[in-house]
Amino acid sequence: MERYTKTAMLLHWLVAILIIAAFLLGLTMVDIKGITPTKLKYYSWHKWMGVTVLFLAVARALWRAKHTPPPHPANAPAWQNKAADVVHYLLYFFIFAVPISGYLYTLAAGVPVVYLGVWQMPVLFEGTPELKAFFKPIHYWLNMSMALFVIAHAGAALKHHFIDRDGVLKRMLP
Ligand code: HEM
Repeated sequence: MERYTKTAMLLHWLVAILIIAAFLLGLTMVDIKGITPTKLKYYSWHKWMGVTVLFLAVARALWRAKHTPPPHPANAPAWQNKAADVVHYLLYFFIFAVPISGYLYTLAAGVPVVYLGVWQMPVLFEGTPELKAFFKPIHYWLNMSMALFVIAHAGAALKHHFIDRDGVLKRMLP
């Protein structure tokens, strides 16, 4: 069966690892009481991971626009192929929307984002308590929605591997 290219695999797994790490770190850091050095360090790491996801998302979308993925497995029902396409497009949407919402939320809180501690990213607007309260649930709910589709996506990949045994997961594995 036709496989994904090395570039497609690299971008796929880098983004997968980073969104899972940023997601778990996000849930952990907000629960740390008070303002401790560890909490501040985690917030910075979280933002850097998220901004990296955004850069990789741009690279992925540009790459994808020029390269067609391998065809759907021949024996899968049409509705499953359609569902896979819809979920893949939604995941593309989330890898942009989730980091952008985190970035806007940070600016809304009046904090500039300094990528890797060296590059201050554009401060697009001035933060206010109203904007902060507006963006906070947006970042949260985009994350929870993305998590749902990530679980569906990974669950479908595992079903292909262990139940259908059709090699669909293997073509994304090096
Ligand atoms: C793939 C990218 C990202 C993922 C998966 C992610 C995930 C999360 C999660 C799960 C939380 C916890 C939400 C809560 O329980 O309230 C969170 C919080 C937060 N995220 Fe992100 N995030 C991402 C990108 C970003 C980016 C790019 C920034 C800023 C540059 C950012 C800034 C924040 C901030 C400041 C919080 C803390 C919210 C608070 O203190 O109430 N995130 N993120």
